[in-house]
Amino acid sequence: MSLTTQAIVLDHRPGKNVVAEALRMTELAMEAPVEGEVLVAVRILSLDPYQRLILDEPTLVGVPLPLGAVVPGRGVGEVIESRDDAFKTGDLVFGEFGWRQRAVMPAASLRPVKPLDGKLTWELGVLGMPGVTASIALGKIGNLKAGEEVLVSSAAGAVGSTAGQIAKAAGCRIVGIAGGSDKVRQLANLGFDATLDRRAAVPLDAAIDEAMPEGIDVYFDNVGGKTLELALQRMKPGGRVILCGQLSQYGTAGSATLCDSGLILGKRLRIEGFSVRDHFDAVATHSALLRGLAVDGSLSQLETIFHGLEAGPSGLASMLAGECIGKSIVKIMQSD
Ligand SMILES: NC(=O)c1ccc[n+]([C@@H]2O[C@H](COP(=O)([O-])OP(=O)(O)OC[C@H]3O[C@@H](n4cnc5c(N)ncnc54)[C@H](OP(=O)(O)O)[C@@H]3O)[C@@H](O)[C@H]2O)c1
Repeated sequence: MSLTTQAIVLDHRPGKNVVAEALRMTELAMEAPVEGEVLVAVRILSLDPYQRLILDEPTLVGVPLPLGAVVPGRGVGEVIESRDDAFKTGDLVFGEFGWRQRAVMPAASLRPVKPLDGKLTWELGVLGMPGVTASIALGKIGNLKAGEEVLVSSAAGAVGSTAGQIAKAAGCRIVGIAGGSDKVRQLANLGFDATLDRRAAVPLDAAIDEAMPEGIDVYFDNVGGKTLELALQRMKPGGRVILCGQLSQYGTAGSATLCDSGLILGKRLRIEGFSVRDHFDAVATHSALLRGLAVDGSLSQLETIFHGLEAGPSGLASMLAGECIGKSIVKIMQSD
């Protein structure tokens, strides 16, 4: 029997043009699974900022996606045929399926998934790679102490919202920057002590000064650019800055900036770039920590769901435009 799947592939490099138009849906032939492989029906796919970066060349992270290739992406799926003893039909598995409806995967590349209280989408968000990124980065660089003041940018995003909640659980005062009144309201509901709307009329520097008059102990930076500069100027002596992402620079020719080294030296700041790719050995430990926080009610997920594989390209564009809250996910419909 010949197998096919719907998939989203890179049609052309978007450059400064519309991201969604650079991607197209196509039908691909697949080989049936052989010994050691598993056929998976993909249930949910993660939308992540790096997927935008690799559409162009050169790219800030990873390797540029070749033209015609399936957009890579993590997801959770259901085993529909197994040729490996490790999995049986009906098992839920996490894997790097790419943006496709069905995938034949080496069993060794998959991890079983046991969703907490049926919250499948959390496996791609606060309990998945974004959550683990926040947790490891705070553990390795943040060195949080109870009572410290923590500023998080893109705080309503998947990584940022987890970082804020972890810092809160560690006894810190957390301040989040997000775009729009609805997002800052939802951050307050998540437990943020103060929220700053980067789209509001009040300039961000004045808003930070009002929310954190004594300065910042830890800045969790997801955006780079001007916000990073503003935060650096307001760090307390001995402060730590986690460089996790540069959202303000994605899809632009700009480069994230750093202010003068005299300030960094004078305040004995620790500023460190972080990539979760360097810490895969710590993933299991931090996944367990995050599950513990979720079970005791200290960790919750904000999310935006898109329906159908064909919604992936516009979903990615919406996420990058700041139109989504929390973890952005594509749910694959049965009929796709
Ligand atoms: N270092 C690592 O290992 C690692 C791993 C995973 C992710 N990351 C990085 O972590 C960051 C957060 O990832 P995520 O998956 O949680 O994405 P996310 O924060 O959900 O990303 C989308 C959000 O980015 C914000 N944004 C977009 N353009 C912006 C701009 N010009 N200035 C400020 N904010 C802007 C928007 O939020 P608002 O409108 O609310 O501001 C938008 O909703 C990204 O930079 C990502 O690349 C790093």
